[in-house]
Amino acid sequence: MKITYYGHSCFGVEINGSNLLFDPFISNNVLAKNIDVTKIKADYILISHGHEDHIADAEFIAKHTRAKVICNWEINVWLEKKGVTDIHPMNIGGKTKLNFGSIKCVDAKHSSSLPDGTYGGNPMGFVIESSEGNFYYAGDTALTYDMKLIGNYRSIDFAFLPIGDNFTMGVDNAIIACDFINCKQIIGMHYDTFGYITIDKNEAQLKFERAGKNLTLLKIGETISK
Ligand code: NI
Ligand code: MN
Repeated sequence: MKITYYGHSCFGVEINGSNLLFDPFISNNVLAKNIDVTKIKADYILISHGHEDHIADAEFIAKHTRAKVICNWEINVWLEKKGVTDIHPMNIGGKTKLNFGSIKCVDAKHSSSLPDGTYGGNPMGFVIESSEGNFYYAGDTALTYDMKLIGNYRSIDFAFLPIGDNFTMGVDNAIIACDFINCKQIIGMHYDTFGYITIDKNEAQLKFERAGKNLTLLKIGETISK
């Protein structure tokens, strides 16, 4: 698997030859000004919820790449009205098999409205299982006891967790989430983009280390192998 960070909560993950893109928010993110949206590869665009900082570039990238969008029913209806044609609607608890592996939608404790105020359905996270490994993309969420269900039924090799606090869980709760999902390898997201979610990155990594866990913080534009 290859993981590329595009800033905020947006990652590209290449699995078994397919490019998955999570929560595209690039052109409105000043920290990601060096990322060229027209160069991002995507076969699937997964959207956790309707907020601007997770969906801003979805319409453009979907039309530009002809990727299939995976999102909840309400976001599906909204994107269809904008002329996005290849959409696979899902909802929490549902799993689907695709050519690279499978996607299961899991609970996220947050809110979800679309940028124009349209109701955005329920926010969700994704569990991806594949022959190259399994991971959990939490989306925007508080720490929830339901995360134990994620770790109880499958092995999670690594997880993308929000750590910026204020709108989602912060570092201390993300460390507890590691125990719930039974996974020690975390890639941080949803931090530093806005004033409300600025964090001390060194302190965050030290806290994870002291708890016997690992927090990877990628540079925007950086690619790593997993
Ligand atoms: Ni949000
Ligand atoms: Mn957000």
